[in-house]
Amino acid sequence: MKRDFLTLADRTEAEYEALFKRTHALKASRKRKEVVTTLAGRHLVSVFEKSSTRTHLSFEAAMYQLGGTVTTLTAGSSQIARGETIEDTARVISGYADCIMFRTFGDDRLTAFAKASQVPVINGLSEGGHPVQLLADLFTVEERLGTVKGKTIAFLGDCASNMGRSFVEATRFFGFNLRLGCPEGYRPSAELLAQAGARVHVTADAAEAVKGSDVVVTDVWTSMGQETESAKRMKDLHDYQLNEALMAKANPGAIVLHCLPAHRGEEITGGVIDGPQSAVWDEAENRMHVQKALLEQLILG
Ligand code: CP
Ligand code: NVA
Repeated sequence: MKRDFLTLADRTEAEYEALFKRTHALKASRKRKEVVTTLAGRHLVSVFEKSSTRTHLSFEAAMYQLGGTVTTLTAGSSQIARGETIEDTARVISGYADCIMFRTFGDDRLTAFAKASQVPVINGLSEGGHPVQLLADLFTVEERLGTVKGKTIAFLGDCASNMGRSFVEATRFFGFNLRLGCPEGYRPSAELLAQAGARVHVTADAAEAVKGSDVVVTDVWTSMGQETESAKRMKDLHDYQLNEALMAKANPGAIVLHCLPAHRGEEITGGVIDGPQSAVWDEAENRMHVQKALLEQLILG
């Protein structure tokens, strides 16, 4: 039976512990310039229906560095743009690949694609979440702060974005407390919040959200596909910019995360993202290390 990675609920707490342990080992091997060929002879196909820099490159680098091969397909250059169904596309790719990464819009598209695929499918970002980014983010927290368990993470801005939603979901498996700072209309659904329970606190006061936190995170105010709402979002989220004054309310030694791409002067200031508390470059690099461990888990079992 193939196992997909579409949401964080697709793995257990114990599996995440093993995944991070393997990620530390793979990262150390890479730093020592050791060659690891666990995925020799294996092939990944990545399919993008939205733009990407990090996801595209980190999956390619991960696969090639482990001795495997990759084909990356953009929807616009494939028959998807001319109306071939997601189901037919997934079925055909399954015949060529050992694993498929898919970046798409609605989660209905993601689940239909995964259902038609005969090999494991990874969610490379959808409206409902960005689980591979969360793995990199929480691995970075573990690396910088020693552990994720018991830490307090603040997430500011559009808390209903795929990143906001995945942070809420992650509280169920990684044992941290989450403080969301966002206005009405930018909260994750009541259903998602209810599943997370007491670990998630929601407030409209950005300073209250950040106070006492060990990690402060934000995401773009206008996600891919929401471009027509951009002016309204800039206005609604104006008070939730992650700036130096807000960072001063976090715990000393707190780190800053942002999945990137960032918009300096909008959701985050240059002083914060380029400042001493920023861990965003390690976070971006860790996408590759953690995805290596994930690809091994999915392809080798
Ligand atoms: N963080 C992230 O997923 O970046 P890309 O959109 O560049 O892949
Ligand atoms: N929320 C952002 C994340 C980009 C990696 C988006 O969906 O555009």
